[in-house]
Amino acid sequence: MTKTMEEKVALVTGSAMGIGLACAEAFAKAGYITVLADIREPGEQVEKLVAEGQKAVAYRCDVSNTQAVKEMIDWTVATYGRLDAALNNAGIQTPQRPMAEITDDEFDRTVAVDLKGVWNCMRYEILQMLKQGGGAIVNTSSQGGVTGFPGQAAYIACKHAVIGLTRTAAIDYAAKNIRINAVCPGVIRTPMAEDLMRRDPSLEKELVRDIPAGRLGKPEEIANAVL
Ligand code: NAI
Repeated sequence: MTKTMEEKVALVTGSAMGIGLACAEAFAKAGYITVLADIREPGEQVEKLVAEGQKAVAYRCDVSNTQAVKEMIDWTVATYGRLDAALNNAGIQTPQRPMAEITDDEFDRTVAVDLKGVWNCMRYEILQMLKQGGGAIVNTSSQGGVTGFPGQAAYIACKHAVIGLTRTAAIDYAAKNIRINAVCPGVIRTPMAEDLMRRDPSLEKELVRDIPAGRLGKPEEIANAVL
């Protein structure tokens, strides 16, 4: 796939499903050359976009692996020349348990993906955006990043941290023409949310009770905001 001078390049992590996939589709449909990055290669998802005439490519990457993230950004720039937009969205939940019952290994893996993963991606995205004179980054935090959520202490701690990281990096690079924001989705119907509700069938009803719209969100609604 070749790039014309006007085409912009977007990278979306955690784009094999859920919110990331909807966002990658939105970028591709808006005309971006879109790199769909995920720990499981989103080959079929990319094939569908390409069949619809979009410019999209799959890249397999574990965002918790610093070297792999550096290689992903290097590859994107070597292949398409620049990086205009990035959504750092890959995330995992911790098994649903009260804080003191979450093991150190579970905590460490959650932090490695949900916080260090965002850190890794932002660092190399920012270094590239500085070289090219600007860009825009969005990180996926959560409504739980400004409140709390039962049984998800490690995950929620990371989502709070992502907001602090986003705010500070946004200040650090505002004068360099790099916009850095976070989205804080409420509960969105994705494989992650479905998994949580499958393990606790009464949860959906409880969650919906607190949502003024009276329903869970849709991945496309977050994609519109991110775009
Ligand atoms: P999901 O589980 O449906 O999709 C997450 C994607 O991230 C998957 O494709 C998965 O393979 C990928 N991924 C997991 N670990 C990875 C790693 N180490 N490296 C690269 N990719 C990895 O989740 P969903 O719901 O689409 O969530 C996306 C983001 O939105 C996450 O950061 C999540 O915490 C956040 N979020 C989700 C909400 C929801 O209700 N679904 C609410 C608020 C925030």
